[in-house]
Amino acid sequence: MNDARPRRRARRARITGVLAATVALAAASAAVLPALAASAGQTLAQVATARGFHIGTAAEVNSLASSQWRYVADTQFNSVTMGNEGKWDATEPAQGQFDFAAADAIADYAAATGKRLRGHTLVWHNQLPAWVSAERTAEQQRQVLIDHVTGVAGHFAGDVAQWDVVNEPFNEDGTLRSSVWYTRLGEDYVADALTAARAADPAAKLFINDYNVEGVNAKSTGLYNLVQRLQARGIPIDGVGLQAHLIVGQVPSTLRQNIERFTALGLTVEITELDVRIPLPADTAELTQQAADYRAVVGACAAVTGCTGVTTWGVGEVDSWIPEFFPGYGAALLFDEQWRARPAYSAVVEALGGTATVPAPPPVPSRETVVTYPFEAGLDGWGSRGAETTTHVTTAAHGGTGSVLSSGRTETWQGPTRPVLDLLTPGKLYTVTGWARTASGSGNARLSMQRQNGTATRYENISATTAISTTWTRLTGDYLFLPGATALSLYLETTDTTGDLYLDDVTIETEGPPVSQSASVSASVSPSVSASVSASVSPSASRSPSVSPSVSPSSSGGSGTACAVRYTTNDWGGGFVGDFTLTNTGTTTVNGWTLRWTFAGDQRVNQAWGATVTQSGGAVSAANAAWNGTVTAGASVTLGFLAGYTGTNARPTAFTLNGTTCALT
Ligand code: XIL
Repeated sequence: MNDARPRRRARRARITGVLAATVALAAASAAVLPALAASAGQTLAQVATARGFHIGTAAEVNSLASSQWRYVADTQFNSVTMGNEGKWDATEPAQGQFDFAAADAIADYAAATGKRLRGHTLVWHNQLPAWVSAERTAEQQRQVLIDHVTGVAGHFAGDVAQWDVVNEPFNEDGTLRSSVWYTRLGEDYVADALTAARAADPAAKLFINDYNVEGVNAKSTGLYNLVQRLQARGIPIDGVGLQAHLIVGQVPSTLRQNIERFTALGLTVEITELDVRIPLPADTAELTQQAADYRAVVGACAAVTGCTGVTTWGVGEVDSWIPEFFPGYGAALLFDEQWRARPAYSAVVEALGGTATVPAPPPVPSRETVVTYPFEAGLDGWGSRGAETTTHVTTAAHGGTGSVLSSGRTETWQGPTRPVLDLLTPGKLYTVTGWARTASGSGNARLSMQRQNGTATRYENISATTAISTTWTRLTGDYLFLPGATALSLYLETTDTTGDLYLDDVTIETEGPPVSQSASVSASVSPSVSASVSASVSPSASRSPSVSPSVSPSSSGGSGTACAVRYTTNDWGGGFVGDFTLTNTGTTTVNGWTLRWTFAGDQRVNQAWGATVTQSGGAVSAANAAWNGTVTAGASVTLGFLAGYTGTNARPTAFTLNGTTCALT
């Protein structure tokens, strides 16, 4: 056991500026988001919560900074899984050096929005840093595994409801995959991981998670037999995760039977990574079939006591892994590229016994162009990455007459690059777009940032897709610029070829304030959405333009209110994160609250979570978010914000809740 690893809560008390700002991204700006579907019936999360079921999404830090993602995820899901942030390459990139900045942001988002947290994943064969597979003895390898599980599960102890302790251990025939773990440690690695996870976090339910184990087949039988062997030895195993990365029309007919054979062993079952991919473009018939598939999967789980939740692997087209990993497929999740509900949304609500009301799509944020590189007049500040030659050419162009050509490449990572550090603001989300073309043949083109934090280098992928020679291919993706970088360069490479490469029309954009409330729900349902969904849009579903979770300060509280406030800050000079724990120390429930205080200096709140914050001069008021307005006697809520200042960050001296002064703790 490695007792030296601080737990998450303890660790958060001394977070650094970099980490603090990352944590602040946990729930970027609840302040500007109106409550979703306030008068439009129940959300998917509410339907699920009402029957004690979990409906989850994978979340990535990039997504947390998108107001549109947040708008949907905040209210439609009651569970969240670390999408990439809990994996080995993110959490222990160098041996013994744990980095929880990104995973903490997901955990904080879950806490701030009242969602259950699924940890993903402790032991896997993918997304492993190279050091893990370096040559060493079996005993050393076992220690590497145990230290990692102990460090990561220990950090999140108490916060994670379920851990995918071992991910994808099986071959299709039900034998164990020859990963570095199985090859060096044999089957015992599974038991070692589970045992270490239980020791590090006794409260978390421990899962083995895999794909193609949804129906009764050789692979799921391999899992079934492994679980029985573990149980016979008294090894802690609480659940199995059926990933369910499915193809439209191919839900296994034995899904429910399979779930039942696992729950009969006393296990919890969850559908952990559901998506139903469709060959693009998806037509109405396919979306209707997909809705039936979602209905079947959620229905099968909900029908079995012991199958406690379904998580989809992302919210919508924008955060789906399918288009990148299964080229030619997409449309796999409940929301489309504009965050409009697909027919499958209603199917899932109905499978959980609810009546579907199609939610209004989120307000569309304005786009602000940070910079464009048209390559019309020259290199626009771009140059060579490595020993290749980047030149301005007029022999090929996506727009206009010029582009840049990278030639003489001898390594896949070589290509055109440009420093962009001074263009970006920490904590903001950017969309980076460029157009790539090969001189001949095809190559897997990738647009990335190389980021330097002092001496540590990170390569952050923005977008990857196949580029060809006959036409230009668009590369576009979101980039969340975390604080703390000392250098940052955008670059293009082809990860599998060293042929010549063109780049043109690069733009960096960012989200501005919302330009519009989206059009009414019925108008925004795309023509390809099936009739059954449009029919289910209730006439009252169209959003009034300014639904906001504002709470009248006099609506409750008053003389019966008693409160205590704990206010902590993590300050890095010029900016800070403020965290509140607000406790109802009275004897009656508070229904709706506004916390007020005054900053003596020029502190300005930029982003808030767990509350809607407005500021006028030094006077700040934080009104409850949609999900935390009710605070029963003795209960606490947390809220926080990211702020900037000059001079000194003097602490406010008084806080009032609904007009009543609170005790300071
Ligand atoms: C995927 C992520 O969604 C991608 O962003 C990443 O590049 C690769 O991994 N099974 C799993 C998940 O258990 O962790 C995978 O997630 C999808 C397949």
